[in-house]
Amino acid sequence: MIPTALQPYEAEVVENTVEAEGIFTLRLRFTDADLQRRYSFQPGQFNMLYLFGVGEVPISIVSDPLDEHLFDHTIRTVGRVTEGLSRLRAGDRLGIRGPYGRGWPMQAARGKDVVVVSGGLGCAPVMSVINYVTRRRGEFRHLNVVQGVKAACDLIWPDKYAVWQNQPDTSIVISADSADAGWPHHTGSVLNLFDSLTFDPANTVLMTCGPEGLMRAACQKMQTLGVAAENLWLSMERNMHCAVGQCGHCQFGGAFVCRDGPVFSYAEIGHLLGNKGV
Ligand SMILES: Cc1cc2nc3c(=O)[nH]c(=O)nc-3n(C[C@H](O)[C@H](O)[C@H](O)COP(=O)(O)OP(=O)(O)OC[C@H]3O[C@@H](n4cnc5c(N)ncnc54)[C@H](O)[C@@H]3O)c2cc1C
Ligand code: FES
Repeated sequence: MIPTALQPYEAEVVENTVEAEGIFTLRLRFTDADLQRRYSFQPGQFNMLYLFGVGEVPISIVSDPLDEHLFDHTIRTVGRVTEGLSRLRAGDRLGIRGPYGRGWPMQAARGKDVVVVSGGLGCAPVMSVINYVTRRRGEFRHLNVVQGVKAACDLIWPDKYAVWQNQPDTSIVISADSADAGWPHHTGSVLNLFDSLTFDPANTVLMTCGPEGLMRAACQKMQTLGVAAENLWLSMERNMHCAVGQCGHCQFGGAFVCRDGPVFSYAEIGHLLGNKGV
Protein backbone atom coordinates (compact mmCIF):
# COMPACT_ATOMS: atom_id res chain seq x y z
CA MET A 1 0.00 0.00 0.00
CA ILE A 2 1.27 3.47 -0.90
CA PRO A 3 1.27 5.89 2.07
CA THR A 4 -0.73 8.90 0.75
CA ALA A 5 -3.95 7.71 -0.90
CA LEU A 6 -4.59 10.75 -3.14
CA GLN A 7 -1.05 11.51 -4.24
CA PRO A 8 0.13 9.98 -7.52
CA TYR A 9 3.66 8.62 -7.55
CA GLU A 10 5.85 8.60 -10.63
CA ALA A 11 6.19 5.30 -12.48
CA GLU A 12 8.15 4.39 -15.59
CA VAL A 13 7.02 2.28 -18.53
CA VAL A 14 9.26 -0.78 -18.80
CA GLU A 15 7.46 -2.20 -21.82
CA ASN A 16 4.29 -1.58 -23.87
CA THR A 17 3.06 -4.81 -25.50
CA VAL A 18 0.29 -4.86 -28.09
CA GLU A 19 -2.01 -7.80 -27.20
CA ALA A 20 -4.55 -7.34 -30.02
CA GLU A 21 -5.97 -4.45 -31.99
CA GLY A 22 -6.81 -1.72 -29.45
CA ILE A 23 -5.55 -3.72 -26.44
CA PHE A 24 -2.13 -3.28 -24.89
CA THR A 25 -0.28 -4.13 -21.68
CA LEU A 26 1.83 -1.55 -19.84
CA ARG A 27 4.55 -3.07 -17.64
CA LEU A 28 5.46 -0.47 -15.02
CA ARG A 29 7.74 0.17 -12.07
CA PHE A 30 7.92 3.09 -9.65
CA THR A 31 10.91 5.33 -10.25
CA ASP A 32 11.49 5.34 -6.46
CA ALA A 33 13.07 1.93 -5.78
CA ASP A 34 12.06 1.99 -2.11
CA LEU A 35 8.42 2.64 -3.02
CA GLN A 36 8.53 -0.15 -5.60
CA ARG A 37 9.89 -2.54 -2.97
CA ARG A 38 7.09 -1.65 -0.52
CA TYR A 39 4.27 -1.69 -3.08
CA SER A 40 1.86 -4.62 -2.63
CA PHE A 41 -1.61 -5.43 -3.94
CA GLN A 42 -4.21 -8.19 -4.16
CA PRO A 43 -5.71 -9.71 -7.35
CA GLY A 44 -8.78 -7.70 -8.37
CA GLN A 45 -7.56 -4.38 -6.94
CA PHE A 46 -6.96 -1.41 -9.25
CA ASN A 47 -4.68 1.61 -9.63
CA MET A 48 -5.48 5.12 -10.87
CA LEU A 49 -3.21 5.79 -13.88
CA TYR A 50 -2.53 9.49 -14.43
CA LEU A 51 -1.38 10.52 -17.90
CA PHE A 52 0.18 13.90 -17.16
CA GLY A 53 -1.86 16.76 -18.60
CA VAL A 54 -4.59 14.48 -19.94
CA GLY A 55 -6.39 12.69 -17.11
CA GLU A 56 -6.63 9.79 -14.74
CA VAL A 57 -8.37 6.39 -15.17
CA PRO A 58 -8.98 3.31 -12.98
CA ILE A 59 -7.31 0.17 -14.34
CA SER A 60 -7.08 -3.32 -12.77
CA ILE A 61 -3.73 -4.82 -11.86
CA VAL A 62 -3.22 -8.04 -13.83
CA SER A 63 0.15 -9.15 -12.52
CA ASP A 64 0.71 -11.48 -9.57
CA PRO A 65 1.51 -10.19 -6.06
CA LEU A 66 4.67 -12.35 -6.18
CA ASP A 67 5.96 -10.48 -9.26
CA GLU A 68 8.49 -8.22 -7.61
CA HIS A 69 9.72 -4.90 -8.97
CA LEU A 70 7.12 -4.69 -11.80
CA PHE A 71 3.36 -4.51 -12.27
CA ASP A 72 1.19 -4.86 -15.36
CA HIS A 73 -2.01 -3.19 -16.60
CA THR A 74 -3.87 -4.53 -19.67
CA ILE A 75 -5.88 -1.71 -21.23
CA ARG A 76 -8.44 -1.32 -23.99
CA THR A 77 -8.28 1.93 -25.95
CA VAL A 78 -11.72 3.55 -25.67
CA GLY A 79 -11.16 7.30 -25.21
CA ARG A 80 -8.85 10.20 -24.44
CA VAL A 81 -6.77 8.82 -21.57
CA THR A 82 -6.52 5.20 -22.71
CA GLU A 83 -5.61 6.41 -26.22
CA GLY A 84 -2.79 8.51 -24.73
CA LEU A 85 -1.60 5.62 -22.54
CA SER A 86 -1.43 3.37 -25.63
CA ARG A 87 1.20 5.70 -27.10
CA LEU A 88 3.58 5.44 -24.11
CA ARG A 89 6.89 3.74 -24.78
CA ALA A 90 9.68 2.30 -22.59
CA GLY A 91 11.12 5.06 -20.42
CA ASP A 92 8.01 7.30 -20.53
CA ARG A 93 6.60 8.39 -17.16
CA LEU A 94 3.08 8.50 -15.68
CA GLY A 95 1.50 8.90 -12.25
CA ILE A 96 0.15 5.98 -10.21
CA ARG A 97 -1.93 5.97 -7.05
CA GLY A 98 -3.30 2.84 -5.43
CA PRO A 99 -3.87 0.01 -5.04
CA TYR A 100 -7.55 0.59 -4.27
CA GLY A 101 -10.64 -1.42 -3.52
CA ARG A 102 -11.57 -4.89 -2.42
CA GLY A 103 -10.10 -7.62 -4.64
CA TRP A 104 -11.12 -11.22 -5.34
CA PRO A 105 -11.72 -13.62 -2.39
CA MET A 106 -8.60 -15.68 -3.07
CA GLN A 107 -8.23 -16.86 0.54
CA ALA A 108 -11.86 -18.04 0.66
CA ALA A 109 -11.35 -19.87 -2.67
CA ARG A 110 -8.43 -21.95 -1.34
CA GLY A 111 -9.25 -25.68 -1.36
CA LYS A 112 -12.30 -25.09 -3.59
CA ASP A 113 -13.24 -25.52 -7.23
CA VAL A 114 -12.92 -22.22 -9.06
CA VAL A 115 -15.10 -21.09 -11.97
CA VAL A 116 -13.87 -17.97 -13.79
CA VAL A 117 -16.32 -16.47 -16.28
CA SER A 118 -15.56 -13.49 -18.49
CA GLY A 119 -17.16 -11.92 -21.48
CA GLY A 120 -16.19 -9.45 -24.11
CA LEU A 121 -12.79 -8.37 -25.27
CA GLY A 122 -10.16 -9.74 -22.85
CA CYS A 123 -11.42 -9.15 -19.34
CA ALA A 124 -8.43 -7.95 -17.35
CA PRO A 125 -9.74 -8.41 -13.78
CA VAL A 126 -10.15 -12.19 -14.13
CA MET A 127 -6.71 -12.56 -15.73
CA SER A 128 -5.31 -11.85 -12.28
CA VAL A 129 -7.35 -14.75 -10.83
CA ILE A 130 -6.19 -17.22 -13.48
CA ASN A 131 -2.57 -16.12 -13.05
CA TYR A 132 -2.91 -16.45 -9.27
CA VAL A 133 -4.42 -19.97 -9.35
CA THR A 134 -2.06 -21.37 -11.99
CA ARG A 135 0.92 -20.07 -10.02
CA ARG A 136 -0.33 -21.82 -6.83
CA ARG A 137 -1.96 -24.79 -8.52
CA GLY A 138 -1.84 -27.18 -5.53
CA GLU A 139 -3.83 -24.79 -3.32
CA PHE A 140 -7.04 -24.91 -5.39
CA ARG A 141 -9.22 -27.70 -6.80
CA HIS A 142 -10.52 -27.76 -10.38
CA LEU A 143 -10.10 -24.52 -12.36
CA ASN A 144 -12.77 -23.82 -14.99
CA VAL A 145 -12.03 -20.89 -17.32
CA VAL A 146 -15.10 -19.84 -19.29
CA GLN A 147 -14.82 -17.11 -21.93
CA GLY A 148 -17.65 -15.83 -24.09
CA VAL A 149 -17.14 -13.58 -27.12
CA LYS A 150 -19.58 -12.10 -29.63
CA ALA A 151 -17.58 -13.10 -32.70
CA ALA A 152 -14.67 -15.51 -33.13
CA CYS A 153 -12.37 -12.62 -34.09
CA ASP A 154 -12.94 -11.04 -30.62
CA LEU A 155 -10.99 -13.80 -28.86
CA ILE A 156 -7.65 -12.46 -27.70
CA TRP A 157 -4.81 -14.37 -26.01
CA PRO A 158 -5.44 -17.75 -27.80
CA ASP A 159 -1.87 -18.71 -26.81
CA LYS A 160 -2.64 -18.21 -23.11
CA TYR A 161 -5.72 -20.45 -23.28
CA ALA A 162 -3.61 -23.14 -24.97
CA VAL A 163 -1.06 -23.00 -22.12
CA TRP A 164 -3.75 -23.06 -19.39
CA GLN A 165 -5.47 -26.02 -21.12
CA ASN A 166 -2.37 -28.10 -20.42
CA GLN A 167 -2.32 -27.30 -16.70
CA PRO A 168 -3.49 -30.08 -14.35
CA ASP A 169 -7.15 -30.00 -13.21
CA THR A 170 -8.02 -27.20 -15.61
CA SER A 171 -10.85 -26.90 -18.15
CA ILE A 172 -11.07 -24.18 -20.77
CA VAL A 173 -14.50 -23.48 -22.28
CA ILE A 174 -14.69 -20.84 -25.01
CA SER A 175 -17.75 -19.95 -27.03
CA ALA A 176 -18.56 -17.36 -29.70
CA ASP A 177 -22.10 -16.19 -30.38
CA SER A 178 -21.23 -16.52 -34.06
CA ALA A 179 -18.26 -18.14 -35.81
CA ASP A 180 -17.24 -19.49 -39.21
CA ALA A 181 -16.59 -23.17 -39.93
CA GLY A 182 -13.13 -24.06 -38.62
CA TRP A 183 -13.61 -22.26 -35.27
CA PRO A 184 -12.20 -24.84 -32.83
CA HIS A 185 -14.40 -23.87 -29.85
CA HIS A 186 -18.15 -23.80 -29.08
CA THR A 187 -20.78 -21.65 -30.76
CA GLY A 188 -23.69 -20.03 -28.88
CA SER A 189 -24.09 -18.63 -25.39
CA VAL A 190 -21.49 -19.74 -22.84
CA LEU A 191 -24.36 -20.07 -20.36
CA ASN A 192 -25.45 -23.23 -22.22
CA LEU A 193 -22.13 -24.84 -21.32
CA PHE A 194 -22.22 -24.44 -17.53
CA ASP A 195 -23.73 -27.92 -17.07
CA SER A 196 -20.53 -29.42 -18.51
CA LEU A 197 -18.20 -27.66 -16.04
CA THR A 198 -16.33 -29.59 -13.35
CA PHE A 199 -17.26 -28.39 -9.86
CA ASP A 200 -18.87 -29.43 -6.60
CA PRO A 201 -21.62 -26.83 -5.94
CA ALA A 202 -21.09 -27.01 -2.18
CA ASN A 203 -17.39 -26.28 -2.57
CA THR A 204 -17.13 -23.77 -5.41
CA VAL A 205 -16.34 -20.09 -5.90
CA LEU A 206 -17.38 -18.23 -9.07
CA MET A 207 -15.51 -15.08 -10.12
CA THR A 208 -16.85 -13.17 -13.09
CA CYS A 209 -16.34 -9.91 -14.97
CA GLY A 210 -17.66 -8.49 -18.18
CA PRO A 211 -20.99 -7.03 -19.30
CA GLU A 212 -23.41 -6.79 -16.34
CA GLY A 213 -26.03 -8.89 -18.16
CA LEU A 214 -23.58 -11.76 -18.57
CA MET A 215 -22.41 -11.56 -14.94
CA ARG A 216 -25.98 -11.58 -13.66
CA ALA A 217 -26.95 -14.51 -15.92
CA ALA A 218 -23.82 -16.44 -14.86
CA CYS A 219 -24.67 -15.96 -11.17
CA GLN A 220 -28.30 -16.99 -11.71
CA LYS A 221 -27.21 -20.10 -13.61
CA MET A 222 -24.71 -21.07 -10.90
CA GLN A 223 -27.42 -20.61 -8.27
CA THR A 224 -29.70 -23.00 -10.14
CA LEU A 225 -26.77 -25.46 -10.17
CA GLY A 226 -26.59 -25.21 -6.36
CA VAL A 227 -23.86 -22.61 -5.62
CA ALA A 228 -24.76 -20.21 -2.78
CA ALA A 229 -25.02 -16.46 -3.56
CA GLU A 230 -22.20 -15.63 -1.14
CA ASN A 231 -19.82 -17.78 -3.23
CA LEU A 232 -20.61 -15.88 -6.45
CA TRP A 233 -18.36 -12.83 -7.00
CA LEU A 234 -18.49 -10.06 -9.64
CA SER A 235 -16.15 -7.21 -10.54
CA MET A 236 -18.11 -4.02 -11.25
CA GLU A 237 -17.08 -1.02 -13.38
CA ARG A 238 -18.27 2.54 -12.83
CA ASN A 239 -16.83 5.90 -13.85
CA MET A 240 -14.49 7.06 -11.09
CA HIS A 241 -12.95 10.28 -9.93
CA CYS A 242 -11.44 10.14 -6.43
CA ALA A 243 -11.21 6.32 -6.00
CA VAL A 244 -11.31 6.70 -2.21
CA GLY A 245 -15.03 6.92 -1.41
CA GLN A 246 -15.21 10.75 -1.28
CA CYS A 247 -16.80 12.08 -4.49
CA GLY A 248 -19.76 9.76 -5.11
CA HIS A 249 -19.01 9.28 -8.85
CA CYS A 250 -19.04 5.49 -8.53
CA GLN A 251 -22.11 5.09 -6.32
CA PHE A 252 -23.93 1.78 -6.77
CA GLY A 253 -26.97 1.51 -4.51
CA GLY A 254 -25.68 2.06 -0.99
CA ALA A 255 -22.09 1.23 -1.95
CA PHE A 256 -19.19 2.99 -3.64
CA VAL A 257 -17.55 0.72 -6.22
CA CYS A 258 -14.10 2.25 -5.57
CA ARG A 259 -14.15 1.65 -1.81
CA ASP A 260 -16.58 -1.25 -1.20
CA GLY A 261 -15.76 -3.08 -4.50
CA PRO A 262 -14.93 -3.34 -7.30
CA VAL A 263 -15.44 -6.99 -6.33
CA PHE A 264 -18.82 -7.72 -4.70
CA SER A 265 -20.65 -10.93 -3.85
CA TYR A 266 -23.94 -11.66 -5.58
CA ALA A 267 -25.50 -11.83 -2.11
CA GLU A 268 -24.53 -8.17 -1.63
CA ILE A 269 -25.55 -6.66 -4.98
CA GLY A 270 -27.60 -9.24 -6.91
CA HIS A 271 -30.83 -7.31 -6.22
CA LEU A 272 -29.33 -4.13 -7.79
CA LEU A 273 -28.18 -5.68 -11.08
CA GLY A 274 -30.29 -4.84 -14.09
CA ASN A 275 -31.92 -1.83 -12.35
CA LYS A 276 -31.16 1.20 -14.51
CA GLY A 277 -29.99 4.31 -12.64
CA VAL A 278 -28.99 2.52 -9.41
C1 LIG B 1 -12.36 -0.69 -11.08
C2 LIG B 1 -12.16 -0.54 -12.57
C3 LIG B 1 -11.21 -1.31 -13.20
C4 LIG B 1 -11.00 -1.16 -14.57
N1 LIG B 1 -10.05 -1.95 -15.16
C5 LIG B 1 -9.81 -1.82 -16.47
C6 LIG B 1 -8.79 -2.59 -17.09
O1 LIG B 1 -8.11 -3.40 -16.45
N2 LIG B 1 -8.58 -2.39 -18.41
C7 LIG B 1 -9.31 -1.49 -19.15
O2 LIG B 1 -9.07 -1.38 -20.35
N3 LIG B 1 -10.28 -0.74 -18.59
C8 LIG B 1 -10.54 -0.88 -17.27
N4 LIG B 1 -11.52 -0.11 -16.69
C9 LIG B 1 -12.26 0.87 -17.53
C10 LIG B 1 -11.43 2.13 -17.74
O3 LIG B 1 -11.29 2.81 -16.50
C11 LIG B 1 -12.12 3.06 -18.75
O4 LIG B 1 -12.10 2.44 -20.01
C12 LIG B 1 -11.39 4.40 -18.83
O5 LIG B 1 -11.66 5.15 -17.67
C13 LIG B 1 -11.82 5.19 -20.07
O6 LIG B 1 -11.14 6.42 -20.05
P1 LIG B 1 -10.85 7.25 -21.40
O7 LIG B 1 -10.47 8.62 -21.02
O8 LIG B 1 -9.91 6.50 -22.27
O9 LIG B 1 -12.24 7.20 -22.11
P2 LIG B 1 -13.43 8.28 -21.98
O10 LIG B 1 -13.19 9.29 -23.05
O11 LIG B 1 -13.60 8.73 -20.58
O12 LIG B 1 -14.67 7.35 -22.32
C14 LIG B 1 -14.78 6.60 -23.53
C15 LIG B 1 -16.00 5.68 -23.39
O13 LIG B 1 -15.79 4.73 -22.31
C16 LIG B 1 -16.85 4.85 -21.35
N5 LIG B 1 -16.25 4.70 -19.99
C17 LIG B 1 -15.38 5.53 -19.39
N6 LIG B 1 -15.04 5.07 -18.17
C18 LIG B 1 -15.72 3.92 -18.00
C19 LIG B 1 -15.81 2.98 -16.96
N7 LIG B 1 -15.13 3.09 -15.81
N8 LIG B 1 -16.61 1.92 -17.13
C20 LIG B 1 -17.30 1.76 -18.26
N9 LIG B 1 -17.26 2.62 -19.29
C21 LIG B 1 -16.50 3.68 -19.16
C22 LIG B 1 -17.42 6.24 -21.54
O14 LIG B 1 -18.77 6.30 -21.09
C23 LIG B 1 -17.28 6.41 -23.04
O15 LIG B 1 -18.33 5.77 -23.72
C24 LIG B 1 -11.77 -0.23 -15.32
C25 LIG B 1 -12.73 0.55 -14.68
C26 LIG B 1 -12.93 0.40 -13.32
C27 LIG B 1 -13.97 1.23 -12.65
S1 FES C 1 -14.74 7.44 -7.25
FE1 FES C 1 -15.19 8.90 -5.71
S2 FES C 1 -16.51 7.84 -4.39
FE2 FES C 1 -15.81 6.30 -5.77
